[in-house]
This record gives sequence, C-alpha cells and structure tokens, in this order.
Amino acid sequence: MKRILTGVKPTGIPHIGNYLGAIKPAITMSHTDRTESFLFIADYHALTTVRDPKIMKEDVHNVAATWLALGLDPAKTVFYRQSAIPEIFELTWILTCFCSKGEMNRAHAYKALTQANIDGGKDDPDQNIGMGIYTYPILMAADILLFNSDIVPVGADQVQHIEIARDLAQRFNHYYGDVLKIPEASVQKDGAAVVGLDGRKMSKSYGNSIELWLPEKKLKKTINKITTNSQAPEESKIFEGTIVDLYNYFATEQEITDLRSWYAKGIGWGEAKAELFKVVNRELEGPREKYHELMTNTSKIDEILAEGAKRASITAKQVLATVRQACGI
Ligand code: ADP
Ligand code: TRP
Repeated sequence: MKRILTGVKPTGIPHIGNYLGAIKPAITMSHTDRTESFLFIADYHALTTVRDPKIMKEDVHNVAATWLALGLDPAKTVFYRQSAIPEIFELTWILTCFCSKGEMNRAHAYKALTQANIDGGKDDPDQNIGMGIYTYPILMAADILLFNSDIVPVGADQVQHIEIARDLAQRFNHYYGDVLKIPEASVQKDGAAVVGLDGRKMSKSYGNSIELWLPEKKLKKTINKITTNSQAPEESKIFEGTIVDLYNYFATEQEITDLRSWYAKGIGWGEAKAELFKVVNRELEGPREKYHELMTNTSKIDEILAEGAKRASITAKQVLATVRQACGI
C-alpha cells in the first residue's frame, strides 16, 4: 500500500489549469487500488501571505468545496486542514534543528525574493521577507514526513521542496536510524501545462485563467477572450492553438474528429469558441451546482475536514512519538 500525500494552498478559486493539472489526476489516483491518499489544505503555508482572516476562511472553504464538488471522496481520501494537526508544528521545530541556514538560503522562492530586492536597489536583500517564507520548506517537510508519505504529487516549482524534505529525513535518520520515510516527488510533466487565454501557461499570476466556478454567462464571455488570429471565418484552419488544446481535454474522440474537419472546411473563431464552451460547461455544470450547494453549507465542509483530521492525527501521533523517542525527548 503506497501512501500518496499532497497539500494545496487556499489561495482563491482554482482555475481550469489547476483542475486538469492537479485536481483531476489526484482524484483519479485516489480511486486506484493499493494506494492510500492524504490531501490537506495548507492554511499555515498560506499565512505567509494571506493577512485577511475573512479571506483565509473563505479560501479554505473554496478549496475544500472545489475538491469535494469535483469528486474527492472523503471516505477514500484523508482530507484535512494542516492547522488541525498540531503535531506538524512540533515536527517542524525538530526538523528546523536539523536544517542548515545555508540550505534555506538556497531555496528558490527565498532566493527569488532576495534577488528582486537586490535588483530593486534595496539596501538589505532580506527586506520585507518574513521568516515564514524563509522556513516554508521546513514546514512542508514536516507535512510530508509526519505521515510516512511515499509519493508526493506536485508541480515542477515544488520539486526543490521535496528534495529538502528528503535531505532533512536522511539527516535525521543518519543520527537516529531508520525513523523517517524518504518520500518521492511525482511531477507533472512541463509539456502537460494547460494553456491560458493568451496561449501562455494558465496561471493566476498571468491573469489569463478560466476560473472553475464562473456562472455560464461569464464562462462563455471568458472563453470568448481567447486570443485568435485574424483569419476569416470561411478560411481553412490548422487544427491547433488554445481553443484546440483546451477542447482536447474536455471533448470526446468523436467531437474532436468533428471539430477537426470543421476547422479544415473553415470555422469562425466565434463558432469554435462556442463549441469549446459547450464541452467545458458540460463537464463543469454538475460540479458547479455541488460547489455552490457546499458553499451555502460551510459547516458541512468543516465537519468533513474535522473527520479527516481525526483520521490523520492517528498517524501523526504515532510518527511523532517515534521521532521524539529517537531524539530522547
Ligand atoms: P497558479 O500558477 O495559477 O498560481 P498554482 O501554482 O497554485 O497555480 O498551482 C497549483 C497546482 O495546479 C499545482 O499542482 C500546479 O502544478 C497545477 N497547475 C497550475 N497551473 C497549471 C497549468 N496551467 N497546467 C497544469 N497544471 C497547473
Ligand atoms: N507548497 C505547496 C504549494 O505551494 C503546497 C504544500 C504545502 C504541499 N505542503 C505540502 C504540497 C506538502 C505537497 C506536500 O503548492
């Protein structure tokens, strides 16, 4: 039985790129035999940047409702809030004692921020960089190591953090024997990135994303913003580009064949976008309804997360006890 664990930061409503690149594959994986899934909402990681308590609460619910609406089965997946497991923070301190400062200096996110300060002519490269950002990878290592995780599915930008978790576990084990399990990252291939409205990788930070829970009208409007060229409607078109890329994710084989021949015959961009809207909306309309239903009853979401936390804390307590014992504490 392999344990798969991953965390998601509660930062706004997820987009179609998050859905296709992270949420859908994780849910599919959670239904496979011989694996056990742990999924948590990394609210204490979000605290490094989110300072509004209302937004924090809302986004935790947004993210939880999104995963549940898209098919996460809380009976199959241990689904919880990071902040509900205090053992994570105890392990964080223990791991901090095994982490060199230089290792944190080399972490990409921190390095990028200090570089931005240097480039911006700031006197101190560390200006405005919180300790939460600096030690972020240690908290993430604790998230992973506390649950004896085998596989950690992440985006490419998170791979260094898994390396750090592995290093810390190995260092701890070097002193105390085989206590912590060494996890492996499972990385989504770069080529698999879902494109956004402007043809670049879909990302919140590029402002080119299609949010998951837009009402139909808004979804249609957003899809209409996809950048296209100036070819006339009757012109034959090559079957590629953003519309096609997105269509391929949502349409059936037959629908793809049909659209391909429509492209060859000549299709107007408005018509192509309408076809894309149809298939995207078909897949999202059921979950959208479920999402809104959950968001009007957030106590139900809290109940599910609390139930998950109860299950997660069994392993958390066991592993932490072993770790403390190993340290002589
Ligand atoms: P964003 O770039 O919008 O801030 P995040 O970095 O929060 O997205 O990503 C959360 C998860 O969604 C990660 O696992 C990431 O790999 C995945 N993801 C984000 N954007 C895409 C995309 N365009 N295509 C595929 N997967 C994506
Ligand atoms: N840092 C991850 C991100 O920004 C979220 C995260 C926190 C995580 N803890 C984790 C992912 C543990 C995997 C395992 O996306």
